[in-house]
Amino acid sequence: MAEKKKLSVADILAAARAEKAAGSAAVESPEAVATVEAAPTAPAAVSVDASQSPKPSASQPASPKPAGAAGRPSIAEIMAAARANKTAGGAAEEAAPAPPAGLSSEKKVALAKPPAAKPLPKPAEKSPVQRDTASILAAARSGSKPGPVSKSELPPGSGAMGKQSAASAKASPVVRVPPPAVRPLPSAPVRPVKPEAKKAAAATEDRRGVLSFAMGSFMAMGFTALSATGGLFTLGLARFMFPNVLAEPPSRFKVGFRESFPAGKVETKFVAQFGVWVINSDFQGQQQIYALKTVCTHLGCTPNWLEAEQKFKCPCHGSGFYKDGINFEGPAPRPLERYAIRLSDDGQLEIDKSKAFHEELGQWAEPESYVSV
Ligand code: FES
Repeated sequence: MAEKKKLSVADILAAARAEKAAGSAAVESPEAVATVEAAPTAPAAVSVDASQSPKPSASQPASPKPAGAAGRPSIAEIMAAARANKTAGGAAEEAAPAPPAGLSSEKKVALAKPPAAKPLPKPAEKSPVQRDTASILAAARSGSKPGPVSKSELPPGSGAMGKQSAASAKASPVVRVPPPAVRPLPSAPVRPVKPEAKKAAAATEDRRGVLSFAMGSFMAMGFTALSATGGLFTLGLARFMFPNVLAEPPSRFKVGFRESFPAGKVETKFVAQFGVWVINSDFQGQQQIYALKTVCTHLGCTPNWLEAEQKFKCPCHGSGFYKDGINFEGPAPRPLERYAIRLSDDGQLEIDKSKAFHEELGQWAEPESYVSV
């Protein structure tokens, strides 16, 4: 057992191929028999690659030959042992001995190089929703959407992605990542205002204020003038509608009973109101009560009665009149005038200023120009 060599599967295969090529004569050689016999005795040190295992041919039986009387394991047995030792790991490969000396360098490299493992083909995934024409027609008749279904219309958890996501969701707990905090937008920096710009803005504001004040003042003046014009027009219209009317005293008025006017008496209390003197005096040998008009026959001034001098004296040009009204001095050209006077029904003296009697015309002789006493 100490002389037995631990051969790798590659060595065994190489030896098997050499044996196959050499024919049956070579099989009978004692070296090959010894080599083949040594292989099954060290199964733990053999690493076998399934991809390099020879395929059973028609000439070579698929069932392993028992280590019979010949004492040589068949290729099938060697492959079975190699498959059994496949799980032993790569450590055995590292400890594998060098290839046999009879092989070429290329074969040695090929045998020393571990074959690359071929990935197993994945089964084709079937679409979760496969619909044929009958199912589409049935869905159309039932009212649901016929035809192919998009990924968005698939129920959650169906399909390859859905299954994958569901599996991943089951495998790992759901970790909700909080949404990133929204960064506030930086506010625009406040640009400092230049002092010149401030001055210009202040000047503009001042001009606007002045213009506004001027416009307001002009508008106020305009409205005031318009209002004043309207008021004046209204006053003029009212003045036109209501003209001035002189409130003259009545031309007839009563001055009292005859007993109120004693002889020789000149009553002056009616001068201001009626412009008349009431006198009880003797005229041409007849005691009469008459009414003299207080208008100077020169230029119309009002003479004054001078009780001490018993005359009327005009202050304007100095004309003088006696008590009976006859002019005797000054520029007055004629005597004073009389108003009509009479006794009324109630016994009072009634003066009528609508009638005047002139002495130069001889009218003082008329009975309406005096009342006898
Ligand atoms: Fe009386 Fe001239 S007005 S004197």
